[in-house]
Amino acid sequence: MTLNQTQLEELLSPRPVKFYPQVESTQNIAMAWLADRTESGAVVIADEQTAGRGRYGRKWHTPPGVAIAISIILYPPVEALPQITMLGAVAIAELLRGLGVEDVRIKWPNDVRLSGKKVCGVLPEAVWDGDELRGVSLGLGINIRNDFSGTEFEDTATTIESALNRQVDRAGLIKILLDRIDYWMDHLGTDSLYNTWKSQLSIIGEQVNIGSDGGIVSGIVEDVDSDGALLVRDSKGELQRVLAGDIALGGD
Ligand code: BTN
Repeated sequence: MTLNQTQLEELLSPRPVKFYPQVESTQNIAMAWLADRTESGAVVIADEQTAGRGRYGRKWHTPPGVAIAISIILYPPVEALPQITMLGAVAIAELLRGLGVEDVRIKWPNDVRLSGKKVCGVLPEAVWDGDELRGVSLGLGINIRNDFSGTEFEDTATTIESALNRQVDRAGLIKILLDRIDYWMDHLGTDSLYNTWKSQLSIIGEQVNIGSDGGIVSGIVEDVDSDGALLVRDSKGELQRVLAGDIALGGD
């Protein structure tokens, strides 16, 4: 059940792999590695992160032995950049369904939830050289058997093993996950990826309050577009487009 470099290299061959028993953040390693132009699909995996990060500079906790912390190096064309978030969320959702987990939904734009509780976070971070895109590190944090009892996440987070009521093998899940990422990389920019992502979103028709760069947007979500933006009908009846933001459903 422990992860190690040799096992992951063999399992994921010929994909380049860097495994760390403990690292600050797999994103830091991957973003430095992609600047050296390593292969697309190369991965950085850690058993434990001491300074894992989530969106908006939040902390992401990865204690040893209980989760998957992985960063996948990708070189999408710049116009497909908004679809990288979709790709991460869709690949995770497919992994979960393949395991037989019920009630898998994507909370816009990129949380994957089981029965309303977060099981995975997706953090795509781009590396730029001036205005040229050098590449993306797609960071995925998946809760496998974390113990959230007594923590601030007790009511909002869950794990794959608690949903399945059985143990899973992290290395095996990483292999399946990367197969799905490869598949969707071949379909980047297509309606198929956008439609698959959209069909799993729990947000269409919901009342939302979103903090975005332009301030707070409140209204009913009418649709999402192929760049992943929400189309929200505000109280004045105008359609607002929100590309990235933090979202609260209803009054929360
Ligand atoms: C979020 O929901 O805010 C995104 C969380 C992303 C966490 C993963 S764990 C692997 C990779 N390394 C990091 O430091 N963060 C991402």
